[in-house]
Amino acid sequence: MRVAMIGTGYVGLVTGTCFADLGHDVICVDNDAAKVEHLRNGEIPIFEPGLEAMVRQNVRAKRLSFTTSYADAVPDSEAVFIAVGTPTKETDGSADLTAVYAVAKEIARHLKGYTVIVDKSTVPVGTAGEVQAIIAKENAQAEFDVASNPEFLREGSAIDDFMKPDRVVIGVDGERPRKVMQALYRPLILHETPMIYTSVPTAELTKYAANAFLATKVTFINDIADICERVGADVQDVSRGIGLDSRIGPKFLQAGAGFGGSCFPKDTLALTETARRVGTPTLIVEAVMEANNERKRRMAQKIIAACDGSLEGKTLGVLGVTFKPNTDDMRDAPSLDIVPKLQQAGARIRAYDPEGMKEARKYLTDIEWIENAYGVMDQADALLILTEWNEFRALDFKRIKSLLKSPLIIDLRNIYVPAEVAQAGFSYHSVGREVTSG
Ligand SMILES: NC(=O)c1ccc[n+]([C@@H]2O[C@H](COP(=O)([O-])OP(=O)(O)OC[C@H]3O[C@@H](n4cnc5c(N)ncnc54)[C@H](O)[C@@H]3O)[C@@H](O)[C@H]2O)c1
Repeated sequence: MRVAMIGTGYVGLVTGTCFADLGHDVICVDNDAAKVEHLRNGEIPIFEPGLEAMVRQNVRAKRLSFTTSYADAVPDSEAVFIAVGTPTKETDGSADLTAVYAVAKEIARHLKGYTVIVDKSTVPVGTAGEVQAIIAKENAQAEFDVASNPEFLREGSAIDDFMKPDRVVIGVDGERPRKVMQALYRPLILHETPMIYTSVPTAELTKYAANAFLATKVTFINDIADICERVGADVQDVSRGIGLDSRIGPKFLQAGAGFGGSCFPKDTLALTETARRVGTPTLIVEAVMEANNERKRRMAQKIIAACDGSLEGKTLGVLGVTFKPNTDDMRDAPSLDIVPKLQQAGARIRAYDPEGMKEARKYLTDIEWIENAYGVMDQADALLILTEWNEFRALDFKRIKSLLKSPLIIDLRNIYVPAEVAQAGFSYHSVGREVTSG
């Protein structure tokens, strides 16, 4: 099939490339000319494991191409995906749909023959209806349907998530668009991927419900972690103890610094906004957001307390700044809340992140960026772990000790075993577990 993908960010680029890899003929459109130029030269603007090789392979096979021109992409496509950003609107916390609507208008001008327009972006209930109205108004002759096909991929494992999803959710009204979506996903259907066909509003809401539920799970275990710290319990054991219950499940039960990233903060906010607008405020999700914001505030205090209550004149070596490992995405990363508070308290920051430093430079200031993990520790007063990249898990404790001014590790991701760190002679502060010291 011929597919157009509008927007080549984390979702559009991965989805477009994966559809090409499944054998479809995909043309990706972005209004960022520099990005398109890079992509045409085989340079990937984001860090996503495995993506660069897959893009190159499919470009070489002539199944994947990039353009800034809707005229090149839309007229001959059987399905046109909208995969542009839907950030939080500053005014009221709802999803800003400016880009989605602008794309819809542009698509309308170039439609030729029956086409299914697919909302891939995370959009509030009713958006597909708006897209339908915009296109119908712009091009009265257009023959089209609008489907909702929310994306559940996770940055860092996006290709696997697309190729082997837990499920694909497709909101369609009618047989004709359903057949087009079925044909598109046929290679995954052959692998017995569960396909869930719903009404359009149901699909739109399903995406928000999924993210709000996962954010709730993370926030719940963070609350439990706080209790653990007070009562001498171990949150990792609690997580295992409840996660093995199949009604609960083990995932998203890792206590940490509070959730961040490009989706949970904005999607919980947008869902509560929708809920309030339709007269059924969701008290649970509102509490989750409040608890998470409060947590990020408290994390800085926790670090200051671990440093004997003062950061004045101290240097902290920071490992990891992205919102999670295996991505360079800095959107709403907890580091953006925590690091400036540490600086305000008087700390100098030396930091290293395997893939996020280029992006982080745009948001964090007065940081001494170091090109490797051990470099941040040199003469630092403490080591602070903010993102659980794999390469931080097996660092040499002896070497860390010889570099740090004092043997203090504050680990907001629980990547070490407390007894082992203590045995190596450190004072070790983690999340939801007792402080240990050697
Ligand atoms: N990032 C994730 O992990 C993830 C996961 C699931 C769903 N989503 C959702 O998918 C959507 C896209 O997210 P993302 O992270 O890929 O965003 P992104 O910001 O990385 O990418 C958006 C892309 O759209 C392009 N764009 C903007 N306006 C355009 C226009 N008028 N014409 C053509 N291109 C245009 C931008 O230049 C950019 O390349 C959002 O709604 C997001 O909530 C994201």
